Amino acid sequence: MQTFGCQMNVADSNGLAHQAWSMGCTFVADPALADIMILNTCAIREKAETRVYGRLGQLKLFKDARPDSKLLVCGCLAEKDREIMRSKAPWVDALLGPRDYRQFKRLLDRWGVATDSPPADAIFTMPSAEDDPGHDSHQAYAHLRALVNITRGCEKFCTYCIVPYTRGPLESIDPEEIEAQIRREVKAGAKEIMLLGQNVNSYSHDSGLDFAGLLVRLKAIEGVERLTFLTSHPKDFDRAVVDALAELPNAAPRMHLPMQSASNAVLEKMARLYTIEEYLDKVAYFRERLPGWALTTDIIVGYPTETEADFEKTLEVVGAGTFEQAFIFAYSPRAGTPAATMTPQVPQAEKIRRLQAVNAAQNDATRRFHESFIGDTVRVLTQGPSKKDATRMAGKTGHNVTVVYPRDARTEHRAFVDVEIDQAYNWGLSGIVA
Ligand code: SAH
Ligand code: SF4
Ligand code: F3S
Repeated sequence: MQTFGCQMNVADSNGLAHQAWSMGCTFVADPALADIMILNTCAIREKAETRVYGRLGQLKLFKDARPDSKLLVCGCLAEKDREIMRSKAPWVDALLGPRDYRQFKRLLDRWGVATDSPPADAIFTMPSAEDDPGHDSHQAYAHLRALVNITRGCEKFCTYCIVPYTRGPLESIDPEEIEAQIRREVKAGAKEIMLLGQNVNSYSHDSGLDFAGLLVRLKAIEGVERLTFLTSHPKDFDRAVVDALAELPNAAPRMHLPMQSASNAVLEKMARLYTIEEYLDKVAYFRERLPGWALTTDIIVGYPTETEADFEKTLEVVGAGTFEQAFIFAYSPRAGTPAATMTPQVPQAEKIRRLQAVNAAQNDATRRFHESFIGDTVRVLTQGPSKKDATRMAGKTGHNVTVVYPRDARTEHRAFVDVEIDQAYNWGLSGIVA
């Protein structure tokens, strides 16, 4: 099983893996040994699609070598490219979109997964949830962080975005179910709970409960050391949420609030439903009530019709150090969305130039943020051995900053480690165990 895309896909993969395990399947890291291969896919930008099709080409070789093996493609690209996939990758045996997972068990049954009980001698361990199936060393630590869906789908229809078409309309999950899952995860060892939704602020339960109310309700659950959530939408994110967060003893001090652009003309074309003034107003209240928190954002450059003057506005807000971290994307047309046919489109070379300029401005702000930790002792939740250097461990602070530190018998087996920071980089921090 291999997963591309966002945390939603990782959460879905967790669910599918657990179902497969409960029917008697076990997981192998090497696709050459697999009877069933599952690719959970993403369609958010063209690059994401290209990677999936590239991987499908490689998996064809495994299918050729083992003609009886089966290949399931699920996730957002399976939904978006239902027809295209049949001609581009006819060796795929089945497609399930994100709303089709109720059919998963039936499919496995059809493929001869006969039992209906977990393998007697195995405990459930997740297959690699990263899009790097060879990299399993982090799996031993995966249970420390749990992803808990609070909503499914999205009906905001931002004009560039494919998600409402692949994941369907908004549904809010019952609070009892959310609480029960958090309790299960804590019992299984989770220290950090991440609440997931394309727009968590649109949580709206029939009982009248909204997102701020849900946060207050979750306060009662014991054993959650860090509570965090993804993603907030600036239109629906309000003071009540900030006030609820200020009252939460275990909220991780970080907030992701995608700005997308600082030009009102572009925001309007995107159908984001807020102005940059409203956005910055909300940020000001957040900064006032939650000092010391990290604010992160998503930005799209090179949107259709984006002028140099529009772009300069975005550059200015980023250059002012508004964000501790930003994920910056060149606009990628998605067939079937309104923005794909808007004119004029920005030439690719110009998109790249704008991307690099905003990245450079953000890198300065990010480095300044990281340097502010030098000399501090920070609490780090273990992620596993560092990917680049096996003599070190890596983990995340409450602000979600990566920290590396020496690996030894002591640091390897602890969920949390206190690290004294001595170096800051663009990618994060390093230090020694305090
Ligand atoms: N639900 C979240 C994020 C969805 S996708 C939200 O509303 O913010 C994550 C990010 O990908 C988006 O915030 C946006 O910045 C980017 N993105 C989405 N569609 C894109 C496209 N067609 N081209 C470039 N970036 C895109
Ligand atoms: Fe896409 Fe907008 Fe929904 Fe986010 S809020 S998933 S960007 S349509
Ligand atoms: Fe990709 Fe679907 Fe997530 S398109 S970003 S996997 S919601």
